[in-house]
Amino acid sequence: MDNCALNGFLAPAQRARLLEAVNKRCSVRAFSEGPNVAAKSALQYAAGRLTLPGVRILVEEAAPEKLYRALPMVGRIKGTKTYAALIVDDSISRAPLYAGICGEAFVLEAVSLGLGTCWVGSFKESGVEHLLLKEGERVAAVIALGMPAQEYQRRKRKPLSKICVGDPASWPLWAYHAAECVRYAPSALNRQPWRLGYAGRTLVLEKAGMGSGIDLGIALLHMSLGVGDKPHVIRWGQGKEIASILAEDRSL
Ligand SMILES: Cc1cc2nc3c(=O)[nH]c(=O)nc-3n(C[C@H](O)[C@H](O)[C@H](O)COP(=O)(O)O)c2cc1C
Repeated sequence: MDNCALNGFLAPAQRARLLEAVNKRCSVRAFSEGPNVAAKSALQYAAGRLTLPGVRILVEEAAPEKLYRALPMVGRIKGTKTYAALIVDDSISRAPLYAGICGEAFVLEAVSLGLGTCWVGSFKESGVEHLLLKEGERVAAVIALGMPAQEYQRRKRKPLSKICVGDPASWPLWAYHAAECVRYAPSALNRQPWRLGYAGRTLVLEKAGMGSGIDLGIALLHMSLGVGDKPHVIRWGQGKEIASILAEDRSL
């Protein structure tokens, strides 16, 4: 199994900051205004640093009606022009997983700046055609960014018993926390296309049902943040198995 590029990707202080943001994040679709100048430069800085092979993030502006579709139930995102474009080069192995990792780390950085965010996979292509892409690149998703004009609202999630194989209450605390953290990860259409299992000091993340590489990269970032400051190693898996985390477990 290959070593995962997520090992050492984030500094300890950044991991703690992003973990705290997990519980504050929800999708925001109504904004009062875009990020102020200070927040925007912090976002540019985060976008420049959060890169993995085949992925880059650009902070841009576009009129919401040009970029977002009006969707049933949720309507159209409104009130901010600022967005991040998540650009992927599919010729790089695992680029969509890397995009999920980088994009969600960026989202959690934005949340820790007090901003609201929303991942958007169903954006209008015409809204991003001003971006300069290199050969082989595409915009995989965009992320709306701005000051929230709505209350925090946690979306429903599957219970742990539905996303875990076996009883997570019998797992060591770090594995239980990591599973809880995956549970609150965002996913397209809130599908939560993942399954977790624990055996031999190792927590495994698997794909379950219809889900994109981005959804699974997001889940993997959450899983790694949920381990907290316990030393651990992440390894890529094969087939349905996306990755696993092996952590020192003195309670066994
Ligand atoms: C890859 C991805 C694509 C998404 N695409 C859209 C979208 O096109 N439009 C939208 O309104 N929300 C979109 N979402 C937001 C999800 O609907 C939302 O994350 C999910 O319902 C869970 O709600 P929460 O983010 O409030 O926890 C997307 C989320 C992800 C992760």
